[in-house]
Amino acid sequence: GAAVLTAALGATIAATEADAAPKSQSGFPDGFLWGTATAAYQVEGAVHEDGRGPSIWDTFSHLPGKIRDGSTGDVSVDHYHRYKEDVALMKALGATSYRFSIAWPRVFPDGTGTPNPKGLDFYDRLVDELLKAGIKPFATLYHWDLPQALQDRGGWQSRDTAQAFGAYAGYVANKLGDRVENFFTLNEMLTFVEHGHAAGVFAPGLTLPPQGVNQVRHHAVLAHGLGVQAMRASARRPIRIGPAENITIGIPAVETPENIRAAEIATREFNAPYLTVMLEGRYTDAYLAATGADAPKFTAEDLKIIASPVDFVGLNVYTPSFFVVATDAAPHYRALPLPSSYPHMASPWLTIGPEALYWAPRHAATLWNAKEIYITENGTSSADQLAEDGQIYDTDRIMYLRNYLTQLQRATAEGVPVRGYFLWSLLDNFEWADGYATRFGLVHVDYTTQKRTPKLSAAFYREVIARNAVA
Ligand code: NOJ
Repeated sequence: GAAVLTAALGATIAATEADAAPKSQSGFPDGFLWGTATAAYQVEGAVHEDGRGPSIWDTFSHLPGKIRDGSTGDVSVDHYHRYKEDVALMKALGATSYRFSIAWPRVFPDGTGTPNPKGLDFYDRLVDELLKAGIKPFATLYHWDLPQALQDRGGWQSRDTAQAFGAYAGYVANKLGDRVENFFTLNEMLTFVEHGHAAGVFAPGLTLPPQGVNQVRHHAVLAHGLGVQAMRASARRPIRIGPAENITIGIPAVETPENIRAAEIATREFNAPYLTVMLEGRYTDAYLAATGADAPKFTAEDLKIIASPVDFVGLNVYTPSFFVVATDAAPHYRALPLPSSYPHMASPWLTIGPEALYWAPRHAATLWNAKEIYITENGTSSADQLAEDGQIYDTDRIMYLRNYLTQLQRATAEGVPVRGYFLWSLLDNFEWADGYATRFGLVHVDYTTQKRTPKLSAAFYREVIARNAVA
């Protein structure tokens, strides 16, 4: 239990102290869920075990030059075999929830057709272990590891992939829905669509022309809607479902009513092909005008499916996008490019904007009347170094988390209905095209020995959870 962590940290913070800590003014609502998040391909390893089929990330990571350090997810942090130890680490943090993803190619090695029972068995064991530890499981159906067999038949460029996702999601909801109450459909459509199909830096590595990209976007939101419908129809009891999207977060650079309105309009437009269409059931006029002849092909029936009612909205929150009101006419906002001196964390793209954790949920509540919101990811990379005593004193990660969480607390204090927070990530893991050089974990992993060592930030997060307040 907690001993693991405190011992590993040289009893920096004793469990008793944390439990006795005074409730500060900066508290979160009672029952607020605290957890961590991971994704299958990033942590599991065991890519050839128990009948798993290949995914597009297996193919992509094995292509020379695609991953910065030439690594793959073949072994990663071996969570597939070490999940019990990893659940114990969550328990030592005092976490009350956990967000993980299910590998589609474990469950349907060919993407469709006959399920592989051994694939789902792993998630059965994991869920049982979590429940035993008093940790609420939140399962993501798709965190980018598309079965290669579906890619070979057109991948997300094909409408059939959206249909196949629906069938897979329904099957999982039927099997796990007795013990898992909460599901996320697709993780960060924006990222896997744009990076994987426009920029080509993520699997499957495509650089499609604009119409192709827009059609892929459409198939992704269609998959979400088909998934929601199939899951509700196949679960044996009511389950709760929502997206987990990396939205562009419009932040009023100066908080005047005019700038706030501009940031709201910008947030709605920048997310037009993703969260906006999912929650409004239509593509915005500005999106259709801007895409013109390259607009996706869709039917009115598609839009109904895409906007199938959800129970909550999941938001992955990392970087800010700043706006002020435009003095001239439409679009009423002016996007502010970041000066070259703008600070970022260890990953160059990870520009620091704690206010993003206030504005993202506030916009979801204002723009789409979201009644229940989860922060499905937030966290940072750090250039973690082992100190001479074997510990990791990641004060920059603590700085980042403290500032972001202060802004989240501002949101809950104002009544924005955020119900939980999942820190990315429990463990250092395979950071996609960055490989293993970029570490996002609260727990350090030695990739040669698989030894787990909680970082100082784990002690910080444990304090936050114990106090239910920013520590
Ligand atoms: C978003 C993704 O969902 C996750 O897979 C990734 O590792 C983190 N952000 C950090 O980049």
